[in-house]
Amino acid sequence: MDEQTLKDDNEISELIYDKNVIIVAQNLTKDYEIGEYVVRAVDKVSLDIINNDFIVIKGPSGAGKTTLLNLLGGLDSPNSGTIISNGVKITDMKEESLATFRLINSGFIFQNYNLISTLTAEENVMFPMSLTGMSLKAQREKAVSLLKKIGLGTRREHLPFQLSAGEQQRVAIARALANNPPLILADEPTANLDKDTSIFIGELFKDMKENEKTIVIATHDDYLIELANRIINFEDGKIINEEYV
Ligand SMILES: Nc1ncnc2c1ncn2[C@@H]1O[C@H](COP(=O)(O)OP(=O)(O)OP(=O)(O)O)[C@@H](O)[C@H]1O
Ligand SMILES: [Mg+2]
Repeated sequence: MDEQTLKDDNEISELIYDKNVIIVAQNLTKDYEIGEYVVRAVDKVSLDIINNDFIVIKGPSGAGKTTLLNLLGGLDSPNSGTIISNGVKITDMKEESLATFRLINSGFIFQNYNLISTLTAEENVMFPMSLTGMSLKAQREKAVSLLKKIGLGTRREHLPFQLSAGEQQRVAIARALANNPPLILADEPTANLDKDTSIFIGELFKDMKENEKTIVIATHDDYLIELANRIINFEDGKIINEEYV
């Protein structure tokens, strides 16, 4: 166990009650077992994320960036370690409560957009709101306003296959913002997009930062890296170093 990076319970309690700390991750480990092989994708990682941080995670393919993001957002569970997110120990939660927690607390943006192919742009954005019991009228109003904000007011009725890649990613961003979560996690959100579209997406992230979101992005995109106040270099499941910029 890496004693240097571990905090004692008192220190963790102080961090939990510090409203500026939105995630306290301690000693996270994630192993994948396939047949006789075990891959340690995340290896005893400890990390505190401060409110309004804009963190970029960089590292080679297979470093464990996606796995770490999934753990931080509660999309996946670690084999060991603790995550306290917004004062709640999510590593103790059952899947059902975790799903509700995710819905309100974190917005995910994926490399391949992951829109629901049978739903229109507007319905995709409405989807996370529909799970919170919001009225249909309020869902629609919020979706329309988000789609207008990202320049897709005229694409409301389009299905994902009728949208360009950049437009699909913008819809996915609107969906991530639908329930106004404090934390946005993005996994290589511009990897499949051209330079101009990446810059446009960068502007949307800049706007999120100005609106007090906490943002964690796995990326190698210079436009996104320029926006970060913290760059984490990740390799072999470990934080190699961190730069504050
Ligand atoms: N569902 C899974 N089952 C088994 N092994 C997995 C699974 N997901 C990831 N891994 C393994 O865990 C390691 C880390 O994978 P991960 O996808 O987190 O890396 P990454 O840094 O996001 O890479 P990339 O830059 O290519 O997206 C890899 O060696 C991968 O093979
Ligand atoms: Mg990845």
